[in-house]
Amino acid sequence: PNNHRQHQSELAAEKNPQNSRALSTRRELYERDFPVYKQPVEVGNFSLDSERRFFNDSRQMRYYVEPDRNPNFNLRDGYKDRFIKRDDSVKEKLSHILRWVIANRSKLTTRMTTASPCALDVDFVTWRGHLTKLLTTPYETREGWMLAATKFRGTIYISEVETEAAQRERENRTERHEEMMYWGYKFEQYMCADNVHSAPDPDGVVNTNEAFCTVVQTRLADHRLLFSGEVDCRDKDPSAPAPPTCYIELKTSAEICTPKQRSNLHRFKLLKWWAQSFLPGVPRVVAGFRDHEGVVVSVETFHISKISQLIKNEYNCWRPTVCMNFCCDFLSFVKRAVTEDSHSVVYLFSWEPHKDVTYSVHRDSQYSFLPHWFIDEMST
Ligand code: A3P
Ligand code: MG
Ligand code: MG
Repeated sequence: PNNHRQHQSELAAEKNPQNSRALSTRRELYERDFPVYKQPVEVGNFSLDSERRFFNDSRQMRYYVEPDRNPNFNLRDGYKDRFIKRDDSVKEKLSHILRWVIANRSKLTTRMTTASPCALDVDFVTWRGHLTKLLTTPYETREGWMLAATKFRGTIYISEVETEAAQRERENRTERHEEMMYWGYKFEQYMCADNVHSAPDPDGVVNTNEAFCTVVQTRLADHRLLFSGEVDCRDKDPSAPAPPTCYIELKTSAEICTPKQRSNLHRFKLLKWWAQSFLPGVPRVVAGFRDHEGVVVSVETFHISKISQLIKNEYNCWRPTVCMNFCCDFLSFVKRAVTEDSHSVVYLFSWEPHKDVTYSVHRDSQYSFLPHWFIDEMST
């Protein structure tokens, strides 16, 4: 299998001879054996409260409550009068993760010497959501992305930059779209309790500032990763396995009435659901299916480890190995490109559908994203 892998990567280089400043996203180049992906380990967690304040603890953890066999959750309830929406024009970049890193530095560092303050024992620090975008890139036909990378004390930090197209979309959402974005959070409120022994409270306020985030460490081939992602809820059984295995991701989707609709769920939604949960090692997605009026009429559990079997009957479907190999090759590409170790230098990686990934370099620019408080703290 090793020879085969080497042959395939030589093929990838041959088919993509442009130059070392571009990376192809063509699916066929990433059809190799599944790369090594270590079981993610939770090294910590943090919470963001109703005002988006950071806490180095699990106060915002919620508990999964098994729904009725015939649920009847009206997702439109409370949109007008019991909804506090996070201001998504505020770009927080990596700030919450960096606060967590500072508070937990001793868990992540090699031996401190008097000669040099200790470095983090990882190659990359980023959000899980940024990695999800990378995993789905070979299959994405609509939305491009921009990722800023800065090497600081040996670790590469990766933070998303909103594209002009994404900004336009955000500023011009229809009222219908705004309301539909609420539905996913309302479903969470019907399914989750604040305490092990309490029940969900559908009469409460939905506040999308609140979040519980896991921080995991893992390795993809030779890339040591530290990333954080929001977790919707956990199994409330005290004998459930340790995090991240006890975590459950919640999703909503349109009700499935025809084989064509089931096929579309497999081909498009399951790709996103799989990528998002596979990365942090969350084993289950619980999906609520809603009718045209926004009422959840059925709930179905998807096991992440069974999704690759589920989609095998779909013609020309996405493949997990392509997602993981592309992500792995992108991170190698970043390591080759990002050579200068400086908090004020940004390597900006850009991608548009049907194009290659390219990058540009920016010194002391608007793109610099590591905050002064982080640089100062890490320099002592
Ligand atoms: P659904 O995905 O069930 O519709 P997450 O599923 O990642 O926990 O996100 C919770 C909800 O946030 C989503 O629920 C959706 O309502 C909203 N949301 C997340 N990402 C979004 C995006 N890129 N665009 C629009 N809404 C989004
Ligand atoms: Mg969530
Ligand atoms: Mg969710």
